[in-house]
Amino acid sequence: MCGIVGYIGNREAYPILINGLYRLEYRGYDSAGIAVLNDNIQIHKCKGKVSDLEKHIANNKIIGNIGIAHTRWATHGEPNDVNAHPHYSESRELAIIHNGIIENYLTLKEELIKRGHEFRSATDTEVLMNLIEDIQKNEQVELVEAVRIALSQVIGAYAIVVLSKDNPNMLVAARKGSPLVIGIGKDEFFLASDATPIVEYTQNVVYLNDEELAVVQLGEELKIKTIKNKDKIPYVQKLQLSLSALEKGGYDHFMLKEIFEQPRSIRDSFRGRLNARKGDVQLGGIIDYEQKLINAKRIIIVACGTSWHAALVGEYLIEDLARIPVEVEYASEFRYRKPVIYEDDVVIAVSQSGETADTLAAIELAKSRGATILGICNVVGSSIARMTDAGSYTHAGPEIGVASTKAFTAQVTVLILLALRLAKIKGTISTSRFYTLITALESIPKKVENTLKVNDQVKSIAEKFMDVRNFLYLGRGYNFPVALEGALKLKEISYIHAEGYPAAEMKHGPIALIDDEMPVVFIATKKGTYEKVLSNIQEVKARKGKIIAIVTKGDTTVKEVADFTIEIPATEELLVPLLATIPLQLLSYHIAVMRDCNVDQPRNLAKSVTVE
Ligand code: F6R
Repeated sequence: MCGIVGYIGNREAYPILINGLYRLEYRGYDSAGIAVLNDNIQIHKCKGKVSDLEKHIANNKIIGNIGIAHTRWATHGEPNDVNAHPHYSESRELAIIHNGIIENYLTLKEELIKRGHEFRSATDTEVLMNLIEDIQKNEQVELVEAVRIALSQVIGAYAIVVLSKDNPNMLVAARKGSPLVIGIGKDEFFLASDATPIVEYTQNVVYLNDEELAVVQLGEELKIKTIKNKDKIPYVQKLQLSLSALEKGGYDHFMLKEIFEQPRSIRDSFRGRLNARKGDVQLGGIIDYEQKLINAKRIIIVACGTSWHAALVGEYLIEDLARIPVEVEYASEFRYRKPVIYEDDVVIAVSQSGETADTLAAIELAKSRGATILGICNVVGSSIARMTDAGSYTHAGPEIGVASTKAFTAQVTVLILLALRLAKIKGTISTSRFYTLITALESIPKKVENTLKVNDQVKSIAEKFMDVRNFLYLGRGYNFPVALEGALKLKEISYIHAEGYPAAEMKHGPIALIDDEMPVVFIATKKGTYEKVLSNIQEVKARKGKIIAIVTKGDTTVKEVADFTIEIPATEELLVPLLATIPLQLLSYHIAVMRDCNVDQPRNLAKSVTVE
């Protein structure tokens, strides 16, 4: 979603800002813009990509040591040049960039219009800009105070940075519900919506908290205060991010790089937490909450999209191994459907970005009802990681491709560890079964490596199906969430309509879709409901559907019926999602590349969905 970059220091701001915008491209956006101060504030902005902005600027020399830049994902007003950020104030003495949504912008706008203000764009952001200027002029206050007063009138979410002609050595930033990081260099500051534009300049960062306002001023220390005007001491942290993690490393796309990183990312997710020799599993971050978890009336897992699919695997795992009732909820539904939440419920939020607005709101709701809140997040220092009582990071490393791949398998890995740990302390698993499972989990990275060898085979299958209009994905048990995830991956990056279903549900409706043009992907691995899935495969075959089956290595039965089979190594049934997902990620990837789609930045999608 929208991206923010700001710079103030002794270097030329323009290259730092443009470079920062390129780093934030992965978040998804539809227009981009930049403002640099040099006597006057110069704004350049346009619909399209950052490269379009560079072309747009080409003949202009942009000089100045202070500036702000933005990638916009349209909410209020269509994606066009005028609605792109930054926005000038009416006098052009101020400029603003903004992520989030000002919910009461219409009321504020009407009041400003009554006071004679005029607006150029359809955005909520311009309303906030003019409100700040209006307060500054009418209440005769300094910029920082005007920003603070304006934000205290605002309902909604924001991360903003304000540039001012009259304060050429200062940027004012603030956040509520939308992330903002400040990088502290030597005599310079960097601002961004995540650390990716900052990491190449400094490792020292401060994550702004909700309702905090930051003043970065040349020659001065960073100052932070709350919107209620209480001074805060900045908490400086060291970034744990390497530049190489943000580059493609020889792969054509981030998505492919991230698919191939999974042996490493899964291992990193259990490293130091699993010890097969000692027969132990620990999740340090939640150790103090283990008793609460095993005594919980139920566990509610809230998440969105791919993370919701991982959560569903988590439900199967925790109920299967630890015998604790689990409900999995779409965060967006949970927050609005008046759910029953007890004080002894434990709510677990699963999120790659840790910034998903709906998941954040679901946590807030559960928190207000007294439930214990845990998080499983990938992005260190993210809002969800900070808002929860405790949690475990997934350690997948930065995920730049918008379609989640390694984050999913890392989330499933952490949920496996959690289920095993709870089962062990609750005594619902035998020692030998526990040992078998942790040994099997330890061997998963090697098996993922072997699974990735199907890449060329999957690519040739992709060639056969690249032009179809629909796909069906079917699986049962642990493979049902895998089917859902396979379908989501295909539709979001290739724009082919795809549906995931529990295989047995097929005959209650989707079977009507089957004809000789319909590809049906079955996850038909051994054990569990294998025999039942075989029957479902026969039902599709009888109706001439085209069958692509993910099978356990050495399976000959499905091979006789399916049009294409893709083998994955044998493993414990509850670990199969970690392997079976991989050929499906590759299938979507190759189909999308063959259809000339923008794999890393699919249309209309954003990496972290910071609006509801
Ligand atoms: C799909 C995808 C999205 C996210 C969803 C939740 O590939 O990436 O469906 O899974 O937007 O995002 P997080 O996990 O950041 O909360």
